[in-house]
Amino acid sequence: MTTSTDRPVVVAHDLSQVYKISRGIFRAADHLQAVSGVSFTLSAGRTLAVVGESGCGKSTLARMVSLIETPTAGELQLTGVDVMHATAAQRHQLRRAVQLVFQNPYGSLNPRKKIGAILEAPLEINTEFTADERADKARAMLALVGLRPEHYERYPHMFSGGQRQRIAIARALMLKPAVIVADEPVSALDVSIQAQVLNLLADLQHDLGLAYLFISHDLGVVRHIAHDLMVMYLGHTVEQGAKQAIFEQPLHPYTQALLASTPGIAGSGISQKRIVLKGELPSPLNPPSGCVFSTRCPNVTARCQTERPVLRELAGRQVACHEAEQFVQPAALQH
Ligand SMILES: Nc1ncnc2c1ncn2[C@@H]1O[C@H](COP(=O)(O)OP(=O)(O)OP(=O)(O)O)[C@@H](O)[C@H]1O
Ligand SMILES: [Mg+2]
Repeated sequence: MTTSTDRPVVVAHDLSQVYKISRGIFRAADHLQAVSGVSFTLSAGRTLAVVGESGCGKSTLARMVSLIETPTAGELQLTGVDVMHATAAQRHQLRRAVQLVFQNPYGSLNPRKKIGAILEAPLEINTEFTADERADKARAMLALVGLRPEHYERYPHMFSGGQRQRIAIARALMLKPAVIVADEPVSALDVSIQAQVLNLLADLQHDLGLAYLFISHDLGVVRHIAHDLMVMYLGHTVEQGAKQAIFEQPLHPYTQALLASTPGIAGSGISQKRIVLKGELPSPLNPPSGCVFSTRCPNVTARCQTERPVLRELAGRQVACHEAEQFVQPAALQH
């Protein structure tokens, strides 16, 4: 079954997450803005890749979209339901519709349970299927993710890392979700195994019409699987749009630096130039005024240090940079 690809299943508008950090009983708490005003639409059958270096807010975004954390501001719709105003019953339904796959599946697979029982657990809790029906569905799912029938009787420690990630994906699919939030799903795997798991995810998306919010710090990993791209820096989206447009001609200096540090990605002249980021990643407790990237940007101007750029349409994507025009190649400006 292939589902229509223009049915939005996740609509996020201005999503933010602020954490309160205690500084002891006599001092006011600090506020850490982990995600600032992130917006996107993710449709059935599509993959939105969220990229950026450690601490930029990727997992925080994943936790909000998968209903583990409530955003401190913004709007979130899942399968057409307004999450912020959903009833308890609706939230229960939505928890089935959005499933998470983590970097380290071993930590989330009960070592004392056989794979069959692990796959059947979500059905046992959430559905009325009989034990025989649950077993049939678990066996069918094993086949779907490329595992063998005898694996049903085995324990998690008897599998390789790639196989364990297949099991985690299988478990995530047992309740027929509309969205998979995958937080660095292949980062712990060898490169050859990464490709196999990415191919599996692509096949499942094609067959089941799944939407993926795919989180990675590595542009090389999302290169084949992503349709759309969101580049985050210190909780802010700095560039967002179709992967192809951004890979061909990255307009934000941070995207350019990320692409330049990813081997084997051919892009425009800009992305092939080696751009080495200077300076340290600022603390999210004390972000730079003006553009969040201004302290490390090779093209910084006085304006960048005082005025925060908003996301705006330019050359077929959205970019938050005052100076982005200089990177648009003449052909793209005509669009
Ligand atoms: N529960 C929390 N309380 C306070 N601060 C938090 C909490 N969770 C995350 N943070 C902070 O929020 C920021 C974003 O963290 P997050 O885990 O979302 O980043 P990430 O992009 O997933 O990084 P990584 O690539 O290392 O996984 C970081 O500065 C982190 O220290
Ligand atoms: Mg993370």
